[in-house]
Amino acid sequence: MEHGQPDPVGAGRVLVTGAGGQLGAALQEAFPGADARTRAELDVAEPLSLGYVPDLVLHAAAWTDVDGAEADEAGAVRVNAEGTRNVVALGAPVVYYSSDYVFDGTKREPYVESDEPAPLGAYGRSKLLGEREVREGWIVRSSWLFGWTGHNFLQTMLRLGAERDEVSVVDDQRGSPTYVGHLAEAAKALVALPGGVWHVAANGDCTWAEFAAAIFEEAGLDCRIVRISTAELGRPAPRPAYSVLRSEHAGAPRLPHWREGLRECLARLA
Ligand SMILES: NC(=O)c1ccc[n+]([C@@H]2O[C@H](COP(=O)([O-])OP(=O)(O)OC[C@H]3O[C@@H](n4cnc5c(N)ncnc54)[C@H](OP(=O)(O)O)[C@@H]3O)[C@@H](O)[C@H]2O)c1
Repeated sequence: MEHGQPDPVGAGRVLVTGAGGQLGAALQEAFPGADARTRAELDVAEPLSLGYVPDLVLHAAAWTDVDGAEADEAGAVRVNAEGTRNVVALGAPVVYYSSDYVFDGTKREPYVESDEPAPLGAYGRSKLLGEREVREGWIVRSSWLFGWTGHNFLQTMLRLGAERDEVSVVDDQRGSPTYVGHLAEAAKALVALPGGVWHVAANGDCTWAEFAAAIFEEAGLDCRIVRISTAELGRPAPRPAYSVLRSEHAGAPRLPHWREGLRECLARLA
């Protein structure tokens, strides 16, 4: 289907930003008629001109380098906040993908939409600024994304698990690893719901070390996991210790368990 043609899910002309990313790839599959643009094809940090007004924008383009944002917060803000402003200026309702990193992680039960954001780091701050740019549409907070393309924790563990006998993995951050295929599909139901903030992440939760153990088990890799702390890993950006998301809204899209997402993604990679 050509750019700008009606979309089979009935959402009209759909634009996908950040189509080169892992969520962008999944959105292209879920919305096969969409005008899907990579960064090279549509840089959201620049004023945008499409030549048509879309009916819906699935805005997956973002600065996602959490540690890099600490060194260049202005760069992260330029893409995540000013870029979102440019996308909103296209004049269509927007699905803005936001992050569990807008929360500080001090809760010990799932974060719901009415919880107050308090980002710990530059990436979370820039994503929260992006949320505030959305005028008409849906702010979808999700967490710990993994898919079949790009760099993500799953791909890293598959590589390390094949190369090494032992790998050190953080065991004091808890979240919900979310398969991009499931998150992309959920957009279809979401756009029939009222606009506003929606928490959409995989069912279930785990630590990174528990996720790694599940990856090795499902992939049949024999690699020992050394459970370490966030402090021992010593990354530049602070990360929430607990960032499990749940929706408090009736009718919110519910995603399958993260382990099901893992199996689907591994089957796809096989
Ligand atoms: N990854 C996670 O764990 C996670 C968790 C919660 C929420 N999210 C959110 O979910 C969304 C999708 O994340 P993802 O994991 O799919 O990220 P990703 O794989 O890093 O994809 C982001 C895409 O955006 C592109 N991009 C960067 N700057 C751009 C610009 N100025 N104009 C246009 N495109 C630009 C990137 O291109 P280049 O690669 O060429 O820079 C990349 O293709 C993001 O909004 C992210 O904040 C992610």
